[in-house]
Amino acid sequence: MKRYEVSGFGVMEYEEVASTNSLAEKLPLSELKDKQVILTWRQTQGRGQATNRWESAPGKNISMTVIFRPECLEAGKQFAVSMVIALGCLDFLSHYVEGVTVKWPNDVYVGERKISGILIEHRVAGAHIQSSLCGIGVNINQEQFLSDAPNPVSLFQLLGRELPLQEVLEELLECIGKRYEQIHRYAELENDFLRHMYRSTGIYDFEDERGIFRASVGGIDEYGQLILKDTDGRERVYAFKEVRYVC
Ligand code: BTN
Repeated sequence: MKRYEVSGFGVMEYEEVASTNSLAEKLPLSELKDKQVILTWRQTQGRGQATNRWESAPGKNISMTVIFRPECLEAGKQFAVSMVIALGCLDFLSHYVEGVTVKWPNDVYVGERKISGILIEHRVAGAHIQSSLCGIGVNINQEQFLSDAPNPVSLFQLLGRELPLQEVLEELLECIGKRYEQIHRYAELENDFLRHMYRSTGIYDFEDERGIFRASVGGIDEYGQLILKDTDGRERVYAFKEVRYVC
C-alpha cells in the first residue's frame, strides 16, 4: 500500500482489493480520517447499490472510497454528503463532456447513459454523522462493458481517447474537495443539485408500488427524498428505491 497526498486528500493506494468500501468498513476509526481516500486500480468485487455488482476493468477507471467526517452534521442532513459527491463528480465530468446530470439520488449520467456510480454508507453517533464512507466509481478509460448494467458509458467512449488516471484523480478530488466546502450550506447544495438533476423539467413516466404514473420532478425535500408532482396535481414524496424512472 502506498500513501500520498492529492488535492488536499490523504490517499491510501492499493494495487488490488475486493472492494474499497468493504476495506474502509474494516479499518479502525483511527485510519478513517476526514478526507482520507482508499483507492485501487484493480477492484475485484466492486459493490453497487443493493445487491448489484460494479464492473471496472483493471487499470482503467477510478474506484475509490472517500471518507468524510464532517463536524456537527446532523444525521437528518446526510443527503448533503450525497450531493457533495455527486456534484463533485459532475463538476469534474463537465470539464470533458456536455449533458452531465445527476439521476436522483446519486447516479451520474451523460445523456441517457450512466458514467459514475456512488455508494455511501454513513455511521451515525447520537444525532450527528460520525463518518461517511463514500464509494465512487467513475468510468474513465474502459473500452467496453461486459455486465448487464443498464447503459454504462466511459469518458473514453465519449471522447475517443484515454486520459491519464493520476491526473484524473487529482482533478476529481479537487472538484469533490471544493464541493465539500459547502457541506454545511445545504440550501446552496440543493439549489445546484436541482439545477443539474436528470429530467428536472418535463413530464415523464415513473413507477412506484402502485404502478406507473406520469409526473414531473418537484424537487427534493430536506431529507433528500424525491418530490414528484403527478398529472392529477398531487405531490408524491419518495425515499430511495420507493420509485423508479421508467425509460
Ligand atoms: C452503483 O450501483 O451505482 C454504485 C456503484 C459504486 C461503485 C464504487 S467503486 C468504489 C467503491 N467500492 C465498491 O465496492 N463500490 C464503490
